[in-house]
Amino acid sequence: MSRTARVLALANQKGGVAKTTTALNLGVALKDMGYRVLAVDLDPQSNLSMSQGVNVEELTLTMYDVLVREIPMANLIQSREIDIAPAGIELAGAELALTATIGRERALQRTLRPLMDKYDVILIDTPPSLGLLTINAMVASHGVIVPVQCEYLSLRGLAQLQATLEQVREHLNPDIAIVGILPTMYDGRTLHGREAIDVLTQGFGDLVYPIRIGKTIRFAEAPVSGRSVMSYDPQGQAARWYRQLAHIVVERELSPVPQEVRA
Ligand SMILES: Nc1ncnc2c1ncn2[C@@H]1O[C@H](COP(=O)(O)OP(=O)(O)O)[C@@H](O)[C@H]1O
Ligand SMILES: [Mg+2]
Repeated sequence: MSRTARVLALANQKGGVAKTTTALNLGVALKDMGYRVLAVDLDPQSNLSMSQGVNVEELTLTMYDVLVREIPMANLIQSREIDIAPAGIELAGAELALTATIGRERALQRTLRPLMDKYDVILIDTPPSLGLLTINAMVASHGVIVPVQCEYLSLRGLAQLQATLEQVREHLNPDIAIVGILPTMYDGRTLHGREAIDVLTQGFGDLVYPIRIGKTIRFAEAPVSGRSVMSYDPQGQAARWYRQLAHIVVERELSPVPQEVRA
């Protein structure tokens, strides 16, 4: 069996919908199942890197250097709960620095190529915008997972995300599509939360993962200790939700872990 990475981007131009939380906890859950996982932090705010205890102020190499200076990504990958390619605040300048380069939308795709046989899953965490960094993620990916907060206002932005994806499909990556919509911060006690799920399902059908990530303070607590919820509170509900998500993603996106690796 060929073991080539499945590249999945977490995207939604709205901030605070659990892109970063999902990149990390889904990544750790997949690693626990035996997959080789890399998470790429493409957000200048560096939340993913920081939530794994990476001191981003002291980094000498970040994703900026990978995208703009074509430094191999392998040179900056740090081994934490999962492998992390860290961001840094200077990544905010990458969009401008790339503007004048040919193939600026493919910078990330190029740098991932040498890593494709070293990982089974590459998760890309994107910033809360539909700018060049997010477009790079869409070009480099096989599919996009869209975490959405279960409320009307946050559902509205999905049309804009789809329009951007359509453009990327037309010009840069004909295969890219939303592969899953993940309802997050769900509060089943409110009618509003339940109605938001109905609206999502009417619009996206089976693309809505059959799981709701509920609201819990555990997700805010875990990063403070530099850990995922999977290791901060492995028996808790929060970890259970992400293990469920990992199983769904495996079923829909990945080949089984080869026997020889399972051992
Ligand atoms: N299911 C959840 N319930 C409660 N808080 C959550 C949940 N998922 C994430 N959070 C918290 O919400 C905030 C935003 O999440 P984050 O993953 O950083 O979103 P994004 O990357 O989309 O901006 C963080 O403080 C995070 O800990
Ligand atoms: Mg984030």
